[in-house]
Amino acid sequence: MFLSTTHGVLFEDDCMNILPKISSNSIDCVFADPPFNIGKDYKNGYNDIREKKEYLKWCEKWIAECSRILKPGGSFFLYATPELNIVFGNFIGKRMQFRHWIAVSMKATFKRGKRLYPAHYSLLYYTKGEPSVFNDLRTPIPLCRHCGGEIPDYGGHRDKMNPKGVNLTDVWTDTSPNRHSKFKVRDGVNELKLIIPERAILMSTNPGDVVLDPFGGGGSTFQAAEKHHRNWIGVELFDSKHIKERMKENFPDSIGRTKFDYKSIINLQHENYGDQILRRVI
Ligand SMILES: C[S@@+](CC[C@H](N)C(=O)[O-])C[C@H]1O[C@@H](n2cnc3c(N)ncnc32)[C@H](O)[C@@H]1O
Repeated sequence: MFLSTTHGVLFEDDCMNILPKISSNSIDCVFADPPFNIGKDYKNGYNDIREKKEYLKWCEKWIAECSRILKPGGSFFLYATPELNIVFGNFIGKRMQFRHWIAVSMKATFKRGKRLYPAHYSLLYYTKGEPSVFNDLRTPIPLCRHCGGEIPDYGGHRDKMNPKGVNLTDVWTDTSPNRHSKFKVRDGVNELKLIIPERAILMSTNPGDVVLDPFGGGGSTFQAAEKHHRNWIGVELFDSKHIKERMKENFPDSIGRTKFDYKSIINLQHENYGDQILRRVI
């Protein structure tokens, strides 16, 4: 284990070493943002380009594991390009129930050849049977950034609007990531804007539930889970120092003081997670 916090534990390992050690039907929500196999340089040694067949086979393996460890009624979110998610959806649909294809607005991409300008990524949302938790989320009424006034007029029914805002839709437009490196946790990682895992977690879990992210990256899911008092299990294959820094910065009192009984969910016996690794825990 690499890091523990009040609510979570992070393993610096291959997720396919950790997932099989997790009990079936024990996790409330999985949020996964895998490498897309597009040759991206993660600046951490990860090879993001392999034979397509091999990549898809690997994805089927970790997706099947995620489905196994989810509790009945648990939720599964998968963030990927539309081209990948259309393939993954077919596979996931054999195991879980489709809820939504959430279009997550993604500006600053490139138009290639005879194609439309790609302006969204896909966030697939499935549940293992009927969802056990679904919290209605609302977003503030959009304001004009020039005059500060409300943009839509709601056909003269503004006074009947819920003061907490409008119902969250399946098109999210406030989600473009911070491009400038000074705002990024780790250069090279396309870390998601916090609001993306945050909404997924708030929508589908309650405090004390367990969230798992097999591809830690910059640690957005872990920050969102800790912030909202959800327990979490994270895995990142490569350098996780920046995740530790991020958690230290945001939750200085929570480092090394876990109250999460993760050992009741993960079977670490007979593994190398004995003294040698535990010494690395802060
Ligand atoms: C797209 S990034 C995730 C970004 C993350 N969602 C965030 O918002 O910060 C994917 C990450 O998966 C990691 N990764 C790749 N293969 C892995 C594996 N087999 N097990 C665990 N992590 C892996 C990569 O090193 C990379 O940091």
